Amino acid sequence: MVKFVKRQDYDQMSQYAAELIAAQIWMKPDCLLGLATGSTPLGIYQKLIEKHQAGLLDFSKVRSVNLDEYCGLSPEHDQSYHYYMRENFFKHINIDPKAAHVPDGMAEDMEAEGAAYDALIEQLGGIDLQLLGIGNTGHIGFNEPEDSFPTGTHRVRLAQKTIDANSRFFASADDVPRYAITMGLRSIMNARKILLVANGASKADIVKQAFFGPVTPQVPASVLQLHPDVTVVVDEEAGAQI
Ligand code: F6R
Repeated sequence: MVKFVKRQDYDQMSQYAAELIAAQIWMKPDCLLGLATGSTPLGIYQKLIEKHQAGLLDFSKVRSVNLDEYCGLSPEHDQSYHYYMRENFFKHINIDPKAAHVPDGMAEDMEAEGAAYDALIEQLGGIDLQLLGIGNTGHIGFNEPEDSFPTGTHRVRLAQKTIDANSRFFASADDVPRYAITMGLRSIMNARKILLVANGASKADIVKQAFFGPVTPQVPASVLQLHPDVTVVVDEEAGAQI
């Protein structure tokens, strides 16, 4: 079942989503959070940091698994998702760095890395709450449109639209890695709760397609229609067509 929450602007969207994550941590202090990168969750991370700094939120028992990482970028590269998570979130809160996992984009054997990542999620008891953004292609994680739904954690070739969208973070589109390792849709769908956030006019069309169009691997996020507990939080612009 999908629940929609529309908030006035980015700040309100981030506030609402941060409250849900905080509630999850209060209810289960050692929960396993699935985390995302990209522009959309930055406001959420900022609000969670503020709660922590105000003494309202303790991350000492929280564990986390990130959705994805670019292939070939080391954790020190300033566009790697290891770096993003460290700089934008982890270093400002009291999560145990050993409990905060991001797939290894430098692994030599991506198949083995993918299998090990799925085994890790299972061993940690499964994801309690998975935070997701949505790409213009309809991707969640880096699961791009395909002929069938990809399942476990695996290496993907990024769609040209994704490379173009993400080139804003790199010197040029040529510098954007062509491959990434991402949790698969089964790993995501196995999460007990899912929280998807989207803001801005450029997401309005894909949000509508994903949640009101057919369930199809051509729009990977549409598979979320089959999940029992999804909350979609949008601002006015991203929710303009729903
Ligand atoms: C990030 C991720 C991607 C992004 C999506 C939207 O870990 O998995 O699916 O959520 O590309 O990115 P933004 O938020 O930058 O529009």
